[in-house]
Amino acid sequence: MKNLNPILLSGKEVLPLIEGGKGINGSNGYSSGAWAKENCVGTFSAVSPDVVDNKGNVIIETFKKKIRAERHEEMVQYAIQGGIDQAKIAHEVSGGNGRIHMNMLWEMADSERIIAAILERSKGLIHGVTCGAGLPYHLGELASKFKVYYYPIVSSARAFQVLWKRAYSKCSEYLGGVVYEDPWLAGGHNGLSNAENPMLPQAPYNRLVELRKLLRELGLEKTPIIIAGGVWKLSDWQDYIDNPELGDVAFQFGTRPMITKESPISDAWKNVMMHVKKGDVILQKFSPTGFFSSAIKNTFLEKLIERKKGEISFKNEPDAEYSHALQMNAHRMVYIKPEDADKAQNQINAGLSVIQETPDQTVVFMSEEDWKKMKQDRAECVGCLSQCQFSTWSRANGTTGKLPDPRTYCIHKTLYEVGHGGSVKDHLLFAGHQVYRFATDPLYRNGIPTVKELIEKIKVGE
Ligand SMILES: Cc1cc2nc3c(=O)[nH]c(=O)nc-3n(C[C@H](O)[C@H](O)[C@H](O)COP(=O)(O)O)c2cc1C
Ligand code: SF4
Repeated sequence: MKNLNPILLSGKEVLPLIEGGKGINGSNGYSSGAWAKENCVGTFSAVSPDVVDNKGNVIIETFKKKIRAERHEEMVQYAIQGGIDQAKIAHEVSGGNGRIHMNMLWEMADSERIIAAILERSKGLIHGVTCGAGLPYHLGELASKFKVYYYPIVSSARAFQVLWKRAYSKCSEYLGGVVYEDPWLAGGHNGLSNAENPMLPQAPYNRLVELRKLLRELGLEKTPIIIAGGVWKLSDWQDYIDNPELGDVAFQFGTRPMITKESPISDAWKNVMMHVKKGDVILQKFSPTGFFSSAIKNTFLEKLIERKKGEISFKNEPDAEYSHALQMNAHRMVYIKPEDADKAQNQINAGLSVIQETPDQTVVFMSEEDWKKMKQDRAECVGCLSQCQFSTWSRANGTTGKLPDPRTYCIHKTLYEVGHGGSVKDHLLFAGHQVYRFATDPLYRNGIPTVKELIEKIKVGE
């Protein structure tokens, strides 16, 4: 295993090892601080981060306002306070070593306002901001204003080129690095473009060479590339270290740090991860953001997969092709193709008796219980995203003007609940496609390691 040489990240020489940000409460002040303490980089998530009281106890968020726009404001205030609280914890735990970064989902409603308010009130505690899920054009200007380094997360050289041309070329001083996140392998949301086939993964090497070539053309020879997605042990990545074709690189770990003592996720969640088998992580498009994402196949995901499989196209008026009448509810009849009649009836017979329309002129089938929950989740929406396919909330206009999509889910609710001890069967478990390696990795044979123990193993390629 090659020696890992320190590189300059966010203004300091640190080991090129990073804990990726994970919302909601997948990485926090304790986990990121522990990574920084080892002279690495830790990233806490600023997506609904935990607010703590003066004894350090987590205050579970509750929303009191009746109007959604007002609940949205409550959520923003929680996010700001939580971000400040987690930055303080991270700083204390780090003992001033390493670097602390903060991660934000760009598609979160008011993400810029939240980032600005946290940075304003955490001066000197946060050294870098990473942002993915969407094209964070304003991130450069925003972070530069606070003299904090910024790290866009992209999945291709092309995406970075767009960001550079439109925005970052004007504020390159604080561009700390470019995170290349493998869109086929990374946990969480995945940046697959329309041109890329989810079923045809491409090896990262050539894509990284292309990114470095672009960075050189733009005069960013020294800007580190942070490799994320599918990184487990560095002996698999020897060819990427000290490789002049790639230049300075660092490695970002998202899934692997989730089973450490400092990781904030529940023991039940860690236990699921320990037993996942190869192929149990599914790349799918159920997120209400419209992005692809990778998560463990559990009851929650299986229901969405089944619902999607049971989807049937319809018309409001019968014609030669759509001639079979389907009673959608007491007030509405729609027409489906005769060849879909059995598919509809079988679902109804199986107890999926609530039929709901999608924005794509199709219907899906679900149980009374799931429909009740869906209505409740929509009613309790806190407007977390700038635009949501599940509830049709739009930060800019109040509503997207589309039909709410019953093939999606409330991402805020499910991630918040599972991030705070909720059922690991009935919530979304984001994970990278390498998660199955926990089961056979000797590091976990004698129990859960600390971050320090994990980093010691990573350093020697294990
Ligand atoms: C549970 C989980 C939640 C994540 N949440 C976020 C997030 O909120 N924002 C983000 O930019 N990346 C998020 N990620 C991606 C990680 O930061 C990291 O880049 C990715 O997991 C790396 O791939 P790996 O899972 O193969 O290690 C998440 C990943 C996981 C596993
Ligand atoms: S319904 Fe959509 S916008 Fe509302 S809280 Fe849930 S995910 Fe966020």
